[in-house]
Formats: sequence, structure tokens, C-alpha cells
Amino acid sequence: MNSSSKNKKPSEEDINRVSKLKKLISYHNHQYHTLDSPEILDSEYDAYFHELLALEKNFPSLKTEDSPTNSLGGMLLNTLEKQHHTLQMYSLDNVFSVKDWQDFLKKIHNFYPNIEQIFWCDPKMDGLAVELIYIEGVLTKALTRGNGLMGEVITSTVKTITNIPQNIPKEISAARKIEVRGEVIISIEDFQKLNQQQKENNAKIFSNPRNAAAGSVRQLNTSISASRPLRFVAYGVGEWSDAASYKSYKDIMTHLTQCGFETPVYGKKCFSSEEVENYYLNIQKERSNLKYEIDGIVIKIDDIYAQKKLGFTSRAPRFSVAWKFPTKQVKTKILDIKVQVGRTGVLTPVAELEAVNVGGVTIKKATLHNEREILSKDIRVGDTVIIHR
Ligand code: IVH
Repeated sequence: MNSSSKNKKPSEEDINRVSKLKKLISYHNHQYHTLDSPEILDSEYDAYFHELLALEKNFPSLKTEDSPTNSLGGMLLNTLEKQHHTLQMYSLDNVFSVKDWQDFLKKIHNFYPNIEQIFWCDPKMDGLAVELIYIEGVLTKALTRGNGLMGEVITSTVKTITNIPQNIPKEISAARKIEVRGEVIISIEDFQKLNQQQKENNAKIFSNPRNAAAGSVRQLNTSISASRPLRFVAYGVGEWSDAASYKSYKDIMTHLTQCGFETPVYGKKCFSSEEVENYYLNIQKERSNLKYEIDGIVIKIDDIYAQKKLGFTSRAPRFSVAWKFPTKQVKTKILDIKVQVGRTGVLTPVAELEAVNVGGVTIKKATLHNEREILSKDIRVGDTVIIHR
């Protein structure tokens, strides 16, 4: 729609669609962020979100305070203690193509014409966002992102994650306070082992590493989370008493590594938009060799002063964007359910599917793990299912 339509009154159809989209997005936010149990493809969610953004842009009178485009998806479980973040934990806006990426660059250039095109790029990990608070070098508190303003306190769980430093040595950092932000993940190999164990124990099978990580972090019983192969990968900082000494994002990432944090593999400083485009293609090629799941890359303006000038919208920074990979999830139908007998005599139900191409591979079958899983999810012949690869 052109800009003149901004003054047009929305039709009844537009009004109804906006109301429907708000409800749909809120529902799926709850399924994904709170219950760790998504029901639709990420790409379907993104399509709803972008349709709502476009309608609200064309008809500003339809954009209300409570719109999901104003806030983050995460809602809070009421079982864990909650705490305010010192600085809001934002989400990221997404781009999906070279054109979207260049539009993003134009937008920041209009906002800040003197901006230098130097970027920090790293893979976008698919896990649960977490903040670790160190006071005088000691890990004191950990919070989930929650709704961005307030998170769930998960300190005791986080203390069981072995690759998280409990202390930051004074010789490396004498900061009074540092909030380290990152993603809690489970590697693909550990996820497969975990599901195998779950299957043997007739326990819940996780649909992907992200859900397994999120479900494990939110365990109230720390001994269960301690038994899960969780890892923390740091991608940034929140409040930090030494922040003024750092002018470049790359230097912050180097400092986090020196402090003992695992940081994303292949982090790289790129000096032009073309270099970022090549980086995107390279990481996409490397994707299947990585030990953990990623769903795109994250691009940040490297200069911290420029980041401050660009600032944030209500839900995302203007100085950063996620460039997502094409989806590896596709919908299909269950044609039949058969039982396979393994070498050891174990019976496994297998769904025969209407053949679909997922990320270049034709999928015709998928394991349903065990009878309990079929009953609990009420899986039947004729159902539409989502295939993840
Ligand atoms: S930077 C201001 N870098 O993606 C937000 N985020 O979809 C800066 N994520 O909330 C975030 N990998 O939890 C950043 N390399 C990476 C990331 C990353 C995964 C998560 C993060 C964020 C979410 C947005």
C-alpha cells in the first residue's frame, strides 16, 4: 500500500483481521515461549507477525498499546520467582533476503547518515535467552528473558551448567558488576542422547533441542536440570560497570571469551554489506557441520557509540537484525502408522508421510517414538504434522 493509504480509514475487514492476528500471535507466543510447545511453523508465525506489522503501519489507529508487535512474546510461568531486568532484554527484528537486508541498511542510514558500515556477525543460536549477573566477579543471579522486562530466577539451575564460570578472576576483570547475556542450548548430539534416555524411561520426548533446553532450564527440581546436558553461549552484555571502556562489539566479545565464556563459533567483523552477505552464505553452508542448531545469523553495528545513537524500538534494537535461514520445517500428512521391530525386539511406531522436501531432503517417514507419545499427542492417520529437520 502507498503512503496515501495511511490516511484511509480501515475497512471492517481490516479491523477484524487485525483483531484476529493479535489473538493468533498472542496464542502462539504463549505456546512457544511459555509452554515450550509450538503448534505452528516459525515461518507461519513470522508471516502473521509481518501481516500485522503492515496493517498497523497502514492504519496507525489500529495499533494499540497491547499489540504483540509492541512487546516480546515471552510470558511468565507462575511457578518460578520473578525479577526485573536492570536493562530490558530485547528481541530482534528479522530479515529474510538480500533485499530485506539492504532495506534494513537504508533505514539505519536514514536514521544516522554518518554511520560506518562495520558489523559484528555471529550465528543465531536456537535456545533460551538468559542473563547471568556477576557482582564483584561472583555469579550471583541468573534470569530468563521472560517478557523482556521481567524474567524468572533460575540461579540454582544455572549453577549446574558446567561451561558457565562461577567466578570471573579479578586479574581479568575487576568490574563491580557485569550482566552477561546469551543462549542456553543443548547440542544436537546431546539432544539425541537425551531423547534416547527419555524414550527408555518412557518420559516426554522433546521435539527439538530448543524445547529440550527451555524445558530443562525451567525445571523447579534442580537435580533434573543438573542431569541435562545444558550449555551457555554468550552473545552480549546488559548492565556493566566497565562498559565505558569498550568502543567495539568485537572487543566486548573478546573480553567475554577471556572471562571464560563460550561465545558463538565463527564470530566475525565484516567491513561492508557484501561481506555480510558472503558471511550469511558461508554460515548457511556450515550449518549442518555445527554442533548446535542455528536458525540464521545476527548482525550488529560494531561501533558502540553508533549503537547508542540508533537505540531501540519498544521490542528490538535498531542497530541489530537477525537474518534468518529458509525454513527447515514443512507441513505434511500422516498416511499410515506402522510398527517397526528393532534388532533388540523394541517396537517403535513409525508414521508414513506424504513425501515432502525439507531443506533439500525428501522425508517419507518419521518415528513416533512410543505408544505413550502417540496417545498423549493424540496422533492419528490423516492428521497434519510439522516435520523438523
Ligand atoms: S544479540 C538486543 N546474538 O535471538 C538483542 N542474539 O530472536 C541482542 N540470539 O533475544 C541479541 N543468537 O536470545 C544475539 N548471536 C546472537 C544470538 C542471539 C541467538 C537470540 C537472543 C535474542 C533472540 C531474538
